Amino acid sequence: MTNLSINLNKVALLRNSRSFGIPSVIKAAYTCIQAGAHGITVHPRPDARHIKSEDVYELAKMLTVEFNIEGNPSSQFLKIIRDVKPTQCTLVPDAPNAFTSDHGWNLVTNGFWLKPIIQELKELGIRVSLFLDTDLNQIKLAKEIGADRIELYTEPYATAFRNNEVKSVFQKYQQAANKAQEMGLGVNAGHDLNLHNLEKFCSIPNILEVSIGHALIADAIELGLFNAVKEYLKIISPN
Ligand code: PXP
Repeated sequence: MTNLSINLNKVALLRNSRSFGIPSVIKAAYTCIQAGAHGITVHPRPDARHIKSEDVYELAKMLTVEFNIEGNPSSQFLKIIRDVKPTQCTLVPDAPNAFTSDHGWNLVTNGFWLKPIIQELKELGIRVSLFLDTDLNQIKLAKEIGADRIELYTEPYATAFRNNEVKSVFQKYQQAANKAQEMGLGVNAGHDLNLHNLEKFCSIPNILEVSIGHALIADAIELGLFNAVKEYLKIISPN
């Protein structure tokens, strides 16, 4: 079964364009949970342009589903993780001024400093996932440095899907997921997944979690958040 973890960054982005707290990130999280979401994801960035550290602490107090916090493990980020101890921490190599996450880790150059961080987080009882491209060598290194899971960066899949040229790209995701699973790594996925491209992606066996933000919040403008979550859930768990 694939879990749906909803990324609430875009709710916070809208909230931050005024000073009086609407829409509420906490209320949005409640609605997602009521609709059956399996998890909530946030990505606090150093410039706090969407999720702020206060949001993370408030969410941690009220969540009754898995909490996934993603980001580049700066000291500021790691303080939040140590305080909150989410279910899962997804480490992402995004630069402080990145528009959005746009590539996976290069573990040849970064594995040595990530390894003790992964170990520490696991000792705190936090599941650790690494954001990766479909490169099989990177997947092997993720296992070697102790990750529990990988999150496949799905923007290239989503772009290929949009352009009707998904076949060869999709094969790379199948191979990557397969390799990771053979090595004992769980496989998550995220970025630009939406109501059109999700079903095919989830035909890859045993994708444990998809984290979806932008498209789902955009759909919520038309459908309402509760109904939008339900539509995504219908795709990932049709029965
Ligand atoms: N996974 C990671 C690591 C991300 O940074 C993001 C975007 O914040 C997502 C998944 C979700 O992507 P989207 O908002 O396109 O659904």
